[in-house]
Amino acid sequence: MTKPLTILGIETSCDETAAAVVRRNGPANGVILGQAILSQTADHLPFGGVVPEIAARAHIIHLDSLIARAMHEAQIGFADLNAIAATAGPGLLGGVIVGLTTAKALALATGKPLIAINHLEGHALTPGLTEGLEPPYLLLLVSGGHTQLVSVEKIGEYVRYGTTIDDALGEAFDKTAKILGLGYPGGPHVEKLARAGDPARFAFPRPLLGKPGCHFSFSGLKTAVRLQAEACGIMTDQDRADIAAGFQEAVAASLNDRLKNAMTRFREAHPDIDSPSLVIAGGVAANVAIRQSLKARCTHMGWHLSLPPLALCTDNAAMIAWAGAERLALGLTSPLDSPARARWPLDPQAEAAPGAGVKA
Ligand code: KG4
Ligand code: ZN
Repeated sequence: MTKPLTILGIETSCDETAAAVVRRNGPANGVILGQAILSQTADHLPFGGVVPEIAARAHIIHLDSLIARAMHEAQIGFADLNAIAATAGPGLLGGVIVGLTTAKALALATGKPLIAINHLEGHALTPGLTEGLEPPYLLLLVSGGHTQLVSVEKIGEYVRYGTTIDDALGEAFDKTAKILGLGYPGGPHVEKLARAGDPARFAFPRPLLGKPGCHFSFSGLKTAVRLQAEACGIMTDQDRADIAAGFQEAVAASLNDRLKNAMTRFREAHPDIDSPSLVIAGGVAANVAIRQSLKARCTHMGWHLSLPPLALCTDNAAMIAWAGAERLALGLTSPLDSPARARWPLDPQAEAAPGAGVKA
């Protein structure tokens, strides 16, 4: 019988400060015992984006009490933990240092092992916690900082099929929102506006459509949005809605096209899997139009679609605790001098995307 493992997880890599306690009862069998999360969206709102210094300070102020709340909700003490896991990267370095140093201090004080987690691994392994899904499966991660297609082979083994050559998809939504005079974060505003728009009125480019491979590019689309907005002069509400709808449709078409190539590659690598799974994570996974279009692609290709609940799709500490539990079950722990890393590719062997500016 597998020994249950109880892990405290800490997440501070961007603008969410979060702590969670997760118990792993066995492979792909976990439960969240307690969690506390504080979003800093309001702190960054006036600046139209995340300000690293403000984020790091907010993590310092709030992390201790969030850990206390998660532990209280779990009704356990530090002595009951098997390990302490924290995001060690990739992310905004100041914030990562706050969470990782806190985890190190707790590990040192309690004598429990430290587990330094790659934030992307947290996203990648979430469906094990939410629906007991075991690798291998394909992951599409679409957030404000990342746009990646990754084959999750097993715990600790990932093959990156594609990444963005320029902007992350969430960033493209945020920039489009700014051009259209909408608030931050932009994705939900663009989505809402797009519902009233005609996606066919403006012909926006479909980045990399029909090209081989699984990389993404969104900066050309963003420029096309800006040029169209400028061409409209003073935009009417209908102009703005049509631009939002056209942008969103171009995004969905591009995602579908890249995904099609990734699905073919995954099938070739795993011919024995009858009905493979696609997992979608990251804030952009909240977009209903994108969800529907990817759902249709999965149905068409005979794939199972896994969409973790939204709170576990976006940044959270339960995914970090869970990744820590999966690692601990394999006997993998980290030294107390593990570094905080701004960049930390999940697949160190990954081929570079053309055009260099590749995000971790
Ligand atoms: O995963 P997330 O919460 O944070 C990180 O970036 O780590 O993702 C935030 C991103 C933002 O760029 C936001 O505009 C986008 O996700 N987003 C959306 C929607 N909700 C959030 N994009 C499109 N449609 C949405 N409904
Ligand atoms: Zn994330």
